[in-house]
Amino acid sequence: MKADYMQRVQKAAAAIPAKFRPQTAVILGSGLSGIVSGLGYEELPYASIPEFPQPTVHGHKSTLYLSERNAIMAGRFHYYEGHPMDNVVLPIFILHAIGVRNLILTNAAGAVNRNYKPGDLVLIKDHINLMGTNPFIGPNPSYADGSTPGQRFFDAGSIYTPELRKLAQANSSHPLHEGVYTAFTGPSYETPAEIRMVGAMGGDLVGMSTVPEAIAARYLGMRVLGISCATNMAAGISDETLDHAEVLEVGKRAEAELKQLILKILEQL
Ligand code: HPA
Repeated sequence: MKADYMQRVQKAAAAIPAKFRPQTAVILGSGLSGIVSGLGYEELPYASIPEFPQPTVHGHKSTLYLSERNAIMAGRFHYYEGHPMDNVVLPIFILHAIGVRNLILTNAAGAVNRNYKPGDLVLIKDHINLMGTNPFIGPNPSYADGSTPGQRFFDAGSIYTPELRKLAQANSSHPLHEGVYTAFTGPSYETPAEIRMVGAMGGDLVGMSTVPEAIAARYLGMRVLGISCATNMAAGISDETLDHAEVLEVGKRAEAELKQLILKILEQL
């Protein structure tokens, strides 16, 4: 990360009104931004927050929704959009700076595990980073006094907090799968050979997000819950051609279940 990274974080955090000091944040994935509708949260467009990047992908909004206790980001930043990795994780740092300590990451993902079916929600228990990069490459971010928010080499053995998965299971109307999310950069979907490799490695899901944000959250000492919506069987698992419109469509169908689950979890955090 660059030398002025924490200054950027502090500048952005200072622009978020002090009446909002959320403890929990939710990041909504592709096609899942309807979750925020009707909640009555206040809206802060990303464009009004200095340093906040702007998403470019269809199906993603660009608004931070805030209540006294919670923040919901509709619209995230992907590496494949051309955002540098430090911008991909900048919102996580900003949310941390305003007090967020629990992070719920949602995404649309392809199912590698043949026991899953399109529309299933899957709790992420671990990940495999096949993006070929890491948001912390470069100097460890530091404040003006030289102190750093986290360690140079930090544990990744427990990125996804087991208690939050238990809380999610306890609030679901049926048992949810728990799987390993594998991140590629995209934007092309994976090849069937890549998906066979992921299966052999122990991956259950594939996607193009979440992993950098989860790594950043772990660095900052946040508790993390990851929830994937399996919108399609991954390449080669079924004969269907992968299509972004279908990903969004299946995401929409799973949205009601995900919304109910997230609202129940938010009540208890
Ligand atoms: N691969 C990668 N990302 C995805 C997929 C997929 O099959 N489905 C939704 N996001």
